[in-house]
Amino acid sequence: MTRVATGVGPAAGNGLPPDALSFVYLVSGVLFVIGLRRLTHPRTAERGNLVSAVGMALAVGATVLWFEILSPLVLAAALLLGAGVGTWLALSVQTTDLPQLVGLFNGFGGGASALVAGAELIDGVSVGELSGLSPVVTGAAAVTGLIGAVTFSGSLVAAAKLHGISEDPARYPAENGVKVVLAALAVALGLSLLTRTTLGLFPIGEFVSPYWLLLAVASVLGVSVVAPIGGADMPVVIALLNAFSGLAAASTGFVLDNDVLIIAGTLVGASGLILTTIMCRSMNRSLGDVLFGAYGTSGSGGDVADVYEGTVVSTSPEEVAMLLEVARRVVIVPGYGMAVGQAQHAVAELAQLLADDGVDVAFGIHPVAGRMPGHINVLLAEADVPYEQMRELSEINPTFTQTDLVLVIGANDVVNPTAYSADPSPIAGMPVLDVWEAETVVVNKRSLSPGYAGIPNPLFEMDNALMLFGDAREAMQAVVNEYQRNR
Ligand code: TAP
Repeated sequence: MTRVATGVGPAAGNGLPPDALSFVYLVSGVLFVIGLRRLTHPRTAERGNLVSAVGMALAVGATVLWFEILSPLVLAAALLLGAGVGTWLALSVQTTDLPQLVGLFNGFGGGASALVAGAELIDGVSVGELSGLSPVVTGAAAVTGLIGAVTFSGSLVAAAKLHGISEDPARYPAENGVKVVLAALAVALGLSLLTRTTLGLFPIGEFVSPYWLLLAVASVLGVSVVAPIGGADMPVVIALLNAFSGLAAASTGFVLDNDVLIIAGTLVGASGLILTTIMCRSMNRSLGDVLFGAYGTSGSGGDVADVYEGTVVSTSPEEVAMLLEVARRVVIVPGYGMAVGQAQHAVAELAQLLADDGVDVAFGIHPVAGRMPGHINVLLAEADVPYEQMRELSEINPTFTQTDLVLVIGANDVVNPTAYSADPSPIAGMPVLDVWEAETVVVNKRSLSPGYAGIPNPLFEMDNALMLFGDAREAMQAVVNEYQRNR
């Protein structure tokens, strides 16, 4: 272990054996792995989060103390500021806005990695060491700059799209050609760092300028790749950028010769890539389609209610309560509308009442229901829905034919049979929940407006479908009241 951060003098260690820091980093790495393992199940996820946080605190604390990076006062001020901003964000951001927040965090992570690698190069120059920097260090710095800057600018664009403050999608002429040229230029600048040539662009002996130019080109590349991607594919993009932020951190670990950055970054990168693959499968996209096809364009969100031409049948909380009274098996399918309406507590109460009355109750959860991975699981867990009742798509789909009543709460795209149609559509080929196979389907939403993909849903006009119009929380509370009254 040599240097660990820019501007840091020789390793301190306060007289401790040189391997002590490596040992602490190893313990941190083990805690990250245990934490990740626990995050794979909702029951253990909270503890997993805590275990990983302890690992991170250990790694940061050990690094700061070992290398005497900052004075205790500056350190305390930085920690207080960071913790204050984090707490404020955690308390103030709506759950529906969490995807944008995750996007911003990814971007800042990538940007920070790129700046740290650049600072390390400057440091090398200022102490006359650059020629002594190994190709591993300069190569890793180039990789960090490329991935970090793409992650930074791409994440800002993705967050702006998810927040509805950026054009969606923003198309431009010769898109793929522009991306290829920018990528080639960025790689050439990276190679110039690695080989210490100046491409004839910079004064002889000037090794750092190509790095900052690389950051500029990679930033434009990030914007040019993410801007034309449609909103329906944004979750995949966010997951991929999350993986990139981890990879950027891992390569910064090689720049700084810091084990824990390599471990943590690789874990984030690997888990982000796995999540990206799962999301692509769930939305029936290949990664190539997402990044270069400008597919997954979300619809206009305009008024498509006309297409139903009065063919839908509406229902009331009283009628739904009566249907529930005679049902033996009920499946609840929550979607984005349940999150918007904050209806999870009323829904959980209804599920508990039904279970108490001996009804077989399950929740069918689509992997991209809501606006972020795990969105619906988090809300249901918050409302203390037992994990045993939550079923994944592949598990729940074969059971709809034996289900008396499906209650769709604020879900639309994930229960849209258009996905099975051969006609092109933003959700063509996406696996969906086959709710229409149940005896009766009650769909709760406020109107006949489309979902995220912006297309009509033929489910609404099927013979066995009833529409329960209204805000999810009010409608579910009304159904709970009616059901309780008739018990
Ligand atoms: P959507 O298809 O977006 O449909 C949600 C429905 O909820 C809307 O049709 C809306 O209809 C209704 N709604 C909104 N507010 C409501 C309220 N207060 N009470 C009752 N209903 C309300 O949702 P989904 O079925 O969950 O599908 C998710 C979509 O988002 C997919 O297309 C997916 O690709 C995309 N997406 C997913 C993610 C992730 S990772 N989960 C991230 C980004 C995008 P009304 O306006 O008529 O009420």
